[in-house]
Amino acid sequence: MSSFKQIVELIADDLTAVEAKLTEQTASEYSFVDMAVQHVVEGGGKRLRPILVVLSAKVCGYEGSDAHTLAAVVELIHVASLVHDDVLDEAAIRRGRETLQTKWGNKVAVLVGDYLHARVLSMLVARRADDPAMAILADTTQAMCEGEVIHAYKSGDFDISENEYLKIISFKTGKLIAASCTLGAHLGTTDKQQLEALTTYGQQIGTAFQIVDDVLDFTEDADKLGKNAFGDLREGKLTFPIIYARSVCNDAEKQTLEKVLNPNTDEAEAIAFVESLFQQYGVETHCLKAAQGYANRAKAALAVLPATPARRALEQLADYVVARES
Ligand code: IPE
Ligand code: IPE
Ligand code: MG
Ligand code: MG
Repeated sequence: MSSFKQIVELIADDLTAVEAKLTEQTASEYSFVDMAVQHVVEGGGKRLRPILVVLSAKVCGYEGSDAHTLAAVVELIHVASLVHDDVLDEAAIRRGRETLQTKWGNKVAVLVGDYLHARVLSMLVARRADDPAMAILADTTQAMCEGEVIHAYKSGDFDISENEYLKIISFKTGKLIAASCTLGAHLGTTDKQQLEALTTYGQQIGTAFQIVDDVLDFTEDADKLGKNAFGDLREGKLTFPIIYARSVCNDAEKQTLEKVLNPNTDEAEAIAFVESLFQQYGVETHCLKAAQGYANRAKAALAVLPATPARRALEQLADYVVARES
């Protein structure tokens, strides 16, 4: 059995409770709203962020049901971001299903994303807890949106540096993954060192996660991904592998790369050229190595936590983020 499956099995009861919360908390009295929302909420996905909330809570000694509420909250923020991201990226498939805008148009997709954010606010208010979840999630959602806006704004900018890109992905992807860990930790501890350890862990795997997501866009097929392959290339989006390839190739190749990143270029031609660059410069290996560096730093940060099964699961999860195929 893969380590990811084992982790899911270790916390199977918690994840069942999270699924129940997700369904119950997103129900609408309008059957169309209900159907559109369930189309994305029940659409599967790895549930990485809920897993992180639950494990971070456990490693800090918390076992109660509030972890399930917060896990559902972070998943809903994530799903809302995916629904909006697919409008921006004009993506047709998500989690193996048609995207909302393909099925019902942009208006429905934008509003369903907003609906999910509104549900998140209601769920947080209903907790009436005096922990910092509300403040953390307000900051996180803001940063996630800033990251998405800047990435969209910079989409035609070929001069974006690796460092600039790393900052963008730490916002658009890393913040919510880190918040999942911080929120779980807050349920079980007030110890600053432990809280910081889990936040650092989340930030590091968040960056690794997006780098690998960028690589998978070029290396995996759509069936496995549950979303279109070569989507970033088709959109002319600069991502980690492309930024690296651009930094090591020669001037002529750089010019061709800019040409094929134009969405009007023939897709087969673009794919063939980028694949040849990947081969020639070992781009996949370089990116996975970089991602593994982040995963290793994430694991190292956990050293201050008690050596429990939950900590072991978090360590395995860091490696899974790099080794995954979808
Ligand atoms: C996709 O996230 C968006 C990124 C941040 C790269 P996931 O790969 O976690 O998507 P699901 O939840 O499994 O569908
Ligand atoms: C989106 O990044 C990250 C979000 C915060 C939604 P991507 O655009 O790479 O995500 P995918 O590949 O569509 O899942
Ligand atoms: Mg996308
Ligand atoms: Mg992607």
